[in-house]
Amino acid sequence: MDNTEKKHQRRIRYKGTHPKSFDARYKEHQPDKYGETIKKVIQKGNTPAGMHRPICVNEILDFLQIKPSQIGLDATLGYGGHTVEILNKIDSKGHLYAIDRDPIESKRTKQRLLDLGYSENVLSIKNINFSDVDILALDSGLFDFVLADLGVSSMQIDNPERGFSFKNEGPLDLRMNPNIGIPASDRLRELSKNEIIGMLIENSDEPYAEKIAEAIILEYTQGNMINSTTDLYETIQKALSFLPKDIKDDVIKKSSQRTFQALRIDVNHEFEALYEFLEKLPQVLNSGGRVAILSFHSGEDRLVKKSFQFYFRQGIYKEISDGPIRPSMEEQSSNSRSRSAKLRWAIKA
Ligand SMILES: C[S@@+](CC[C@H](N)C(=O)[O-])C[C@H]1O[C@@H](n2cnc3c(N)ncnc32)[C@H](O)[C@@H]1O
Repeated sequence: MDNTEKKHQRRIRYKGTHPKSFDARYKEHQPDKYGETIKKVIQKGNTPAGMHRPICVNEILDFLQIKPSQIGLDATLGYGGHTVEILNKIDSKGHLYAIDRDPIESKRTKQRLLDLGYSENVLSIKNINFSDVDILALDSGLFDFVLADLGVSSMQIDNPERGFSFKNEGPLDLRMNPNIGIPASDRLRELSKNEIIGMLIENSDEPYAEKIAEAIILEYTQGNMINSTTDLYETIQKALSFLPKDIKDDVIKKSSQRTFQALRIDVNHEFEALYEFLEKLPQVLNSGGRVAILSFHSGEDRLVKKSFQFYFRQGIYKEISDGPIRPSMEEQSSNSRSRSAKLRWAIKA
């Protein structure tokens, strides 16, 4: 017998009942084949790997009041969860434009939606930033409704290669479009201590901004690089090592979430993009056109609120939501990622 004969290679097993890494959760990457697994993950209040669960769907549809022949814009396609709900409301006379700045995920979503039977007659998907909504409108004409579901998708957060989360080891990148700009690791190295403090406070109200900034600068002065998500996480752990034992783990987790969020906002120029989008919205909406925006942190919500109020006072919007609409308690408990969501709306005069 040939001793060099290759041993039979077993497929990597689903490790335990709760595989943690993104790749090992292979059943969740194949929803068509493993529907039961997907159902179980969702029942537990989690999001299956490689998927995104749309938030406040009923609240958004109730407000948008979509008519079959309308022309609309989903400004943040993501996994296409809201897109599908909207498409089910319009017919062959209507059309939905769906855009996303992420070329990786929007390509996958485009294919998925095509496979579901949504052809280019009813749906146009484009890989653009919503700050260019005015350029899009030159092609599409004015919109009867617009939806924006801000921030990042679960697919982006969960994929270690994108570097969005301190929970997974990966390159510290954090760009929604990796073809544009510089990765977060390069950006961080450019900043002074005071600039890091400013970024952490302005973008995510980080209470330990100074300690974290000092620890980051110390790493660089000692010749250490912060190139991976783990490098940054460990730097934050060092920065907060002085905290009492009983609160340390919890504070480190929250500060890490806020630090990654602040860096993501900076690297993707998120506030600038949102500001431009909000400023251009009135000129791309039809009279009576409706816009709904879902935001996930106070900085975003503040910008949306201020813009809606500003144009309302000018008579450009005839009605705006009184305050933010929150996901139902049921949704908050069934989808932990919905908990920070705030929905605001406006109607063009
Ligand atoms: C919360 S997810 C949207 C999820 C989507 N509503 C769904 O149901 O699957 C946010 C998406 O917006 C995209 N995005 C964020 N900022 C953007 C911008 N300025 N222009 C276009 N897309 C943006 C992100 O790449 C991400 O895919």
